[in-house]
Amino acid sequence: MAPGYKFFIQTYGCQMNVYDSAVISTLMEQAGFQPVKTEEEADILIYNTCAVREHAENRAMGRILSAKGRYPLRKIVVVGCMAERRKSELKEKYGIKYVFGPREYKNIPGVLINQEAHYINLNYDDILPEQEGVSAYVSVMRGCNRFCTYCIVPYVRKEEVCRQPENIIDEVKKLIKDGIKEVILLGQNVNRYKYRDINFPELLKWVAEETDIKRLNFLTSHPADISSELFEVMVGHNNITKFIHLPVQSGSDKILNKMNRGYTVRDYKNIVKFARGLIPEITITTDVIVGFPGETDEDFQKTLDFIKEIEFDYAFMFKYSPRKGTLSALFDETITEREKKERLSKLIELQNKITYKKNERLIGRERKILVLGTAKRDGVMGKDATGKLVVFKGDSKRGSFVKINITGITGWTPVGKVVKSVNREM
Ligand code: SAH
Ligand code: SF4
Ligand code: F3S
Repeated sequence: MAPGYKFFIQTYGCQMNVYDSAVISTLMEQAGFQPVKTEEEADILIYNTCAVREHAENRAMGRILSAKGRYPLRKIVVVGCMAERRKSELKEKYGIKYVFGPREYKNIPGVLINQEAHYINLNYDDILPEQEGVSAYVSVMRGCNRFCTYCIVPYVRKEEVCRQPENIIDEVKKLIKDGIKEVILLGQNVNRYKYRDINFPELLKWVAEETDIKRLNFLTSHPADISSELFEVMVGHNNITKFIHLPVQSGSDKILNKMNRGYTVRDYKNIVKFARGLIPEITITTDVIVGFPGETDEDFQKTLDFIKEIEFDYAFMFKYSPRKGTLSALFDETITEREKKERLSKLIELQNKITYKKNERLIGRERKILVLGTAKRDGVMGKDATGKLVVFKGDSKRGSFVKINITGITGWTPVGKVVKSVNREM
């Protein structure tokens, strides 16, 4: 296959996959392939997959197999975490010739062109992927060494590799030139970033000070590796969003221990207390898993109590899904699917009330909003300086800043009216 052919990428999974799709797209374009927006137009169909839960795999697999049936003559390329986990199955059982794990993306164009894989390892430090719009991701590290017992990520994304800070700064500067206003630094656990003697708070400070980025943000933090220094850097820089995503997973110490998370409920509460003491307006979100093996009614109640006490601004809540190859897949499942469902809906119901209550407190307040684009239903969507999404009426330009008065809540989203446009970040 020669360059000149058209490719389409469908992305599943987390922000890291979104970023990786931009990397793949840039690599393909550099090799002469042309990106298109639909499967129909493409000669090469690339599926960037997730393996974190069974449901995520099923969705991607369904789409891949249906594409294979519909487009028998096109090249199908499966990449991402499921590609790594089920490589031989994809190749042998489903006859997919092109399968690349997260460390192999540099080889995609070469293999498509002349079946040659030149690179043994993907050092992507030198690739500055093209990204459009208002917000962009910048990966600061890949992989994870934490091995939470339920998690497939360390197996598919392999060991931690940190990126050179100079390349990160270069990438942020390039994005700013391309019109990007918000950068989100990415890592499975950014708190373990270390390059030479530079740790994550130092890297964050460096990016905040050395570039003109208007909004700077990062994902994901781990309670066992986070330090007070991080919050101090956040409070000291106006361009750093006062937002932290800090997955807790469970409110029971017994379960946290079985998950190998490396902290207690008390440790977590102390972090939140410190963060809110220093930055009272900080937005804190989390991830929770229900139905982990051995989670009794009492353990689950502890999670509910914990969620009630902390009052997260938002939570991503999941039913435990055993992943073959992880340690917890060897534990006996003690919770039926029905119980998991029940626990999940109870938890969601509780968190929804809290999310509503917390957003309701914003009514009557003024927020400085970065305009992201049109809202799903009606109006314009933007993000405030604490990472909260707000919807408002008007025709404000994407990437501009406006001052909004929050007037109400629709669903769980704060809605508002423009007070005035502002040309610079305040
Ligand atoms: N690196 C991040 C996110 C990893 S995956 C972190 O450490 O926080 C995102 C979320 O998916 C996790 O926080 C967890 O809540 C959930 N998750 C991971 N593995 C899971 C599994 N086997 N079953 C259910 N949820 C899972
Ligand atoms: Fe998975 Fe834990 Fe690593 Fe997050 S820190 S990616 S949950 S192993
Ligand atoms: Fe992300 Fe899914 Fe992989 S959450 S790291 S794409 S398993």
